[in-house]
Amino acid sequence: MTHYAALAGLGGFLPPRQVTNGELAATLDTSEEWITSRTGIRTRHWAGPGVATSDLAVEAGHRALKSANLPLAPGAVDAVILATTTPDHPCPATAPQVAARLGLGTVAAYDIAAVCSGFVYALATASAQIVAGQARRVLVIGAETYSTILDPADRTTSVIFGDGAGAVVLHAVPEADRPGVLLGVDLGSDGSRADLILVPAGGSRQRSTLGEPDPRDRYFTMQGTKVFAEAVTRMGESASLVLARIGWPRDSIDHLVGHQANIRILRALAGWLGLPEERAVVNVDRVGNTSAASIPLALCDAAANGTLTPGSRVLLTAFGGGLTWGAAALIWPDLNAA
Ligand code: COA
Repeated sequence: MTHYAALAGLGGFLPPRQVTNGELAATLDTSEEWITSRTGIRTRHWAGPGVATSDLAVEAGHRALKSANLPLAPGAVDAVILATTTPDHPCPATAPQVAARLGLGTVAAYDIAAVCSGFVYALATASAQIVAGQARRVLVIGAETYSTILDPADRTTSVIFGDGAGAVVLHAVPEADRPGVLLGVDLGSDGSRADLILVPAGGSRQRSTLGEPDPRDRYFTMQGTKVFAEAVTRMGESASLVLARIGWPRDSIDHLVGHQANIRILRALAGWLGLPEERAVVNVDRVGNTSAASIPLALCDAAANGTLTPGSRVLLTAFGGGLTWGAAALIWPDLNAA
């Protein structure tokens, strides 16, 4: 019997420490006005000392399971997929520890590395496992502690990124038209532009050629202006492909949930798709760019404030390092974020 993957639970977690533009402007060559006007970001959350990505992932995962009315016990889900750019360690993956700490038993658990597109990649993978009959329920988490890889002296990245985690539960349903079913997923990449978003050291390339790295090579780097242009085009094209596949006219989209990188990117994306700006869900002002956690945190925010109502048409799209991008659509189910 054919099954489809539908959204059944949603949860998010932000570390308590808020970092305002004023705090950053006190130590960097920038200003509150520049950050707000050029990015739309007013504040972001950064994890405290000793806090790792798995700590945030466990909190968000717990909340998504609660929202899906599932226990913290073996059998609750068949797999845990964690999208992250900032794993606890280069080896092993972080997802198995998250699964163990949530008490989910010896389930399949693995990480996905697609930077800011990671959550959409993880959703697509989870959906495929369900459709293939390999899993009935999958916990999908996007979690990041970017504050651990930011160069505190780099004004071009430090003001943009935040920490956080968001999670969903996907479960198998028999009807393709059930609200919450993931529709028309698209994924893409262009590795010829890998240099635009890069952590130079810490992997086999640097270690095999250059000996011990300069400590600064362990920091995240980004060519922001080039990324901006690519982000709008790639998300627009990917979203359009999904809409064409499922036969939804662009103007039928109620809510555009784009990767929260910059409010100007979100506005440009809405314009690219011919949608009014108000249809773009925005929480980048309060969380910054949380990379793989961005889309589920935006969903949590929009579900909690009543923007996402059952039956509304929702279009998800993300773009990130790799370069990578992706999109998916769904009809919003009757769901409360925890
Ligand atoms: N404060 C003041 N000036 C800054 C700054 C800061 N925090 N950060 C960068 N600048 C400077 C740059 O050095 C550059 O100066 P230059 O022209 O003298 O070289 C100038 O501002 C560029 O600014 P702007 O013309 O506004 O460029 P922009 O419209 O591309 O905005 C970003 C810059 C980084 C905000 C924008 O490109 C962006 O958001 N990019 C994508 C960000 C992202 O999150 N990507 C992740 C994956 S999608």
